[in-house]
Amino acid sequence: MCGIVGVLGDHEVSPLILDALKRLEYRGYDSAGIATVNHGKLDRRRAVGKLINLSDTLVHDPLPGRVGIGHTRWATHGGPSVANAHPHRAGRVAVVHNGIIENFRALREELTAQGAEFSSETDTETIVQLTSQYLEQGMTPVQAARAALKRLEGAFALAFVFDGEEDLIICARRGSPLCIGHGEGEMYLGSDAIALADMTDRITYLEEGDWAILSRAGAQIFDENDHQTARPMTRINVETARVDKAGHRHFMAKEMAEQPAVLKAAMGFYAGQEDNRIELPDSVDFKSVDRLIMVACGTAFYACQVAKYWFEKYAGLAVELDIASEFRYRDPVLGPSNMALFVSQSGETADTLAALRHVRPHVAQVLSVVNVPSSSIARESDVALPIHAGPEIGVASTKAFTAQLQVLAILALKAGLDRGFLSAESFAARLAELRTLPGFVAQALDREEEIRRMSEALAQARDVLFLGRGVMYPLALEGALKLKEISYIHAEAYAAGELKHGPIALIDTDLPVIVFAPYDALFDKTISNMQEVMARQGKVLLISDAKGLAEAGDVPFRLQMPTVPDFIAPIVYAVPAQLIAYHTALHRGTDVDQPRNLAKSVTVE
Ligand code: AGP
Repeated sequence: MCGIVGVLGDHEVSPLILDALKRLEYRGYDSAGIATVNHGKLDRRRAVGKLINLSDTLVHDPLPGRVGIGHTRWATHGGPSVANAHPHRAGRVAVVHNGIIENFRALREELTAQGAEFSSETDTETIVQLTSQYLEQGMTPVQAARAALKRLEGAFALAFVFDGEEDLIICARRGSPLCIGHGEGEMYLGSDAIALADMTDRITYLEEGDWAILSRAGAQIFDENDHQTARPMTRINVETARVDKAGHRHFMAKEMAEQPAVLKAAMGFYAGQEDNRIELPDSVDFKSVDRLIMVACGTAFYACQVAKYWFEKYAGLAVELDIASEFRYRDPVLGPSNMALFVSQSGETADTLAALRHVRPHVAQVLSVVNVPSSSIARESDVALPIHAGPEIGVASTKAFTAQLQVLAILALKAGLDRGFLSAESFAARLAELRTLPGFVAQALDREEEIRRMSEALAQARDVLFLGRGVMYPLALEGALKLKEISYIHAEAYAAGELKHGPIALIDTDLPVIVFAPYDALFDKTISNMQEVMARQGKVLLISDAKGLAEAGDVPFRLQMPTVPDFIAPIVYAVPAQLIAYHTALHRGTDVDQPRNLAKSVTVE
C-alpha cells in the first residue's frame, strides 16, 4: 500500500530518495516525505498529493544530508494530509512505515497517558513515539528500535533514522516486503528491488521477522529471535527492473500493447519446444489431488474463476474458489489431498498471503502463480510459477491477467494429463491453441481505434452492466472492474442467465449493457438474454466474432473479435475489456495509471 526507501550515501541523498520513491509511486500516491540527518541534525519535508509536490517542496526548501529515508503513502489510518504524511518524527527519531499496526490504539492510549503528544491520526506515529520514549529512558538507538518492534502487532516494513546518527538506518519487516541494496560504500533499502534499480543490482531480501542495522560498511541482519543471520545477496536484472512507458502515454497502454510478446515469452518458458511437452517442476503433480482450492483478489480472482472452468472441463478436477479476504474467515474445509493455488501479480497482497499461511499446514501442496518471483507469496509457496509479464506498473492489471490465464491454462492441461482425464491428442490440440494466443491477442488489440470511438458514448454513462455466460462471466466481472477502477463509472457484471432474476429491472435507455458472447455452445442462450435487454430499450454493445455477429441480427453497437478456439477465448476477450476501460477513462480525464484511492499492491488487510 505504501512505498519506503532508505539511503546511506556518500552524496546528498534527497535526490536519490526522490527518484526511488518515483519508482514506488505505483504503491500509493496520496502524500510523500523524506527525512535526513545532516551534520547530526534530523529534519524532514513532507507534501500532500503526488510526488511532484514533494519535489517542488524540496526545490524551494532543500533537505541536505547523506543519510535519509523516504515514503510514498496510500492512506490507511488518517486521511491524506501533511500531518499524516510520513516520515513521522518524535524527538530524536523519524520512521517510515508500510503496513498496519493493529494494536496502535492501545499503544496510543498508553503513550498519551505517559505524556506523549501526537500530531497525526496515523498508526505509524505510535512507533516513533514509542521509540522516542525508549531513547529518553537511555536506550541506544538500536535498543530503542528493537524494544519498540517487540511491542508492535500487525504488519510492517519500517525504517528508522536518528538525530546524531550519520551512519545508521535500522529497518525491519513483518508482513510487508523489504529488501536491502548493496552499493560501493553506500547501502540502501526499499519496499522492492524496482525502487533501488538505479542505485544497485545487488539485493538482499529480508525474511519474515528480520530486522537489520545498516551502516555504509554493510548490513547486520537479525532474525525475529535476535540471532544474527545471513540472507543471500542476489543480482537483479536492472534492465527489467527499469520501468518506463516506452513511448506510450500511460503504463497501462504500454502493458496492454506488450501482451502478445509477454504471452509468447511465457509460452516459450513453459512449452518452449514446438513438440507437446510442457516444462513444469516435477513436484507439480495432480495425480493424487482430489480438490483444487484457488484463492486470490480482484483481477487475479477473476483469472481463477476462468481457470475453474478449465480444470473442471479438461482435468475433471473439483475446484473451490474464494476471494482471499473472505476465505480464511469462513473456516474452509481443507484436506491432505487438496492442492491450494494462489494467484497474485504482486505476490504481496496481504489478504492472499494471509490465506496462504492459513492453508499451508492443511493441504498437500501450495502453488502460486505470480509476476514477482522474489515476492512473499512466491517464497512461501511450495512451487511458485512466474508469469514472466515483466513489471506491471499501471494499477489496473492487464498483461498480468492474460499471462496469469495462460499459465493457469497450462496447469489445467497438466492436471488433465496427470489425472488421465485428457487424452494426449486433446492435450496436443489445446497446447497448439495456446500457441496461437499472441497472434489473436494482437488482432484484438487492432480494434483499439474502433473501441476508442465507442468509448466516447460510454464515458457519459452513470452505470454500465456487463454480461457473460460460462467462461465469459468472469470476463464480464473483469470488464466491470477495469471500467470502475480507472473511469470511476459504476459498473457491475452478471451471469447473463441471472439477469431475469432481478437485475433486468435496471434496464432502460440510459444503461449501456456490454455483452461478451463468442459463437460458442452458450451463444444462443446469451443472445436470448441480450434480446430481453433490447426488448426493454437497453443499449447493447455485443462483443462477438464474425459468426456471432451475423447470427445476432441487428444490435446497436457491435465489436468484432477474431474467431478463436473456445479454450483461449477468455484470454483474447480480455483485450476489449481492457481497451474499453482505458479509452472510457481517457474520455473522462481520470488518472489511468494511478486512479484515485487505489494502489498497485494492496499489502494491508
Ligand atoms: C486489478 O486491476 C486491480 N488493480 C486489483 O483488483 C488487483 O488485481 C488485486 O489487488 C490483486 O492484486 P495482486 O494480483 O497483486 O494480488
